[in-house]
Amino acid sequence: MDHNIKNVTVIGAGTMGNGIAQVFAAENYSVIICDVSETALSKALATIKSNLERMLKKEIITPQNLEATLGNIKTSMLLKEAAADADLIVEAATENEELKMNLFRQMDQYAPERCILATNTSSISITKIAVSTKRPEQVIGMHFMNPVPVMKLVEVIRGYATSDEVCQTVLAMSRHLKKEPVEVNDYPGFVANRILMPMINEAVYTLYEGVAGVNEIDTVMKLGMAHPMGPLALADFIGLDVCLSILNIMYDGFGNPKYAPCPLLKNMVTAGKLGRKSFEGFYLYTEGSKEVEVAPKFKK
Ligand code: CAA
Repeated sequence: MDHNIKNVTVIGAGTMGNGIAQVFAAENYSVIICDVSETALSKALATIKSNLERMLKKEIITPQNLEATLGNIKTSMLLKEAAADADLIVEAATENEELKMNLFRQMDQYAPERCILATNTSSISITKIAVSTKRPEQVIGMHFMNPVPVMKLVEVIRGYATSDEVCQTVLAMSRHLKKEPVEVNDYPGFVANRILMPMINEAVYTLYEGVAGVNEIDTVMKLGMAHPMGPLALADFIGLDVCLSILNIMYDGFGNPKYAPCPLLKNMVTAGKLGRKSFEGFYLYTEGSKEVEVAPKFKK
């Protein structure tokens, strides 16, 4: 083993948190998922179980793998307890700078000195988050992609103070997770969202300006560029509020109007049309079903 990480604590039991916990547990790390909500914790365990059962059905894993993975996961509602013996903490809480700064202050206080503090942030500065701790050289970004068990990439983001040793440990550990880590530096949007979000924003502008409808735009990108999802379906999948927030962070961070979010995106977020999670974005969604249809007001 080219790293000393055994005990991993994941903060946040949402979509990203439970996916991250699953991939660590599947590779035999001892995992604690920590969240302030008991309901979120039981939902996370149920999601992991049903993901593993689907993999079992497809004979990707054995019944022993399933039991071992579930056996590697514990839950906790107390950060102090969850951090006490962690070699690595991966924070995957809500994307809010103040909340993350506050969490990192506590993680720094409760975690052992050896512990690496990672964040799954998609856009908040690692350098800034690190300032809230007394160990900025041990703070790093581990940006997993949704759905975590499926997507191979981990964008590993070095903050201004992140040490070479910590970066090498995280790269090695990501390979143990059977992921492909890519090292990048800490500037707004890192690499993934710096390139993805302008494409999504341009797709929204294309719709807003009446160049084409939702299905047409997504079909062009799916069939023409072999993207698994069109950019508008992907925006719904990510969450329109998340897309807007990332664009705003890049707009502020670079001061360049090319990142200015499309007024239609802003309007939809204001109206509470956030994509899949609110059952309406560029498409309409039915609860518990993958069926989608184009939201009527965007039909040509
Ligand atoms: N958890 C675990 N496995 C899942 C899953 C989930 N949530 N969702 C799908 N899968 C698995 C399925 O079981 C299936 O497995 P097999 O190949 O073994 O059968 C496989 O993934 C494909 O799934 P489906 O057949 O159900 O559907 P699909 O072929 O349409 O693929 C998709 C679904 C993987 C989501 C695909 O559409 C895709 O890759 N979309 C793009 C996703 C993407 O771009 N993600 C990055 C978003 S950006 C981000 O996360 C970061 C950010 O900062 C914004």
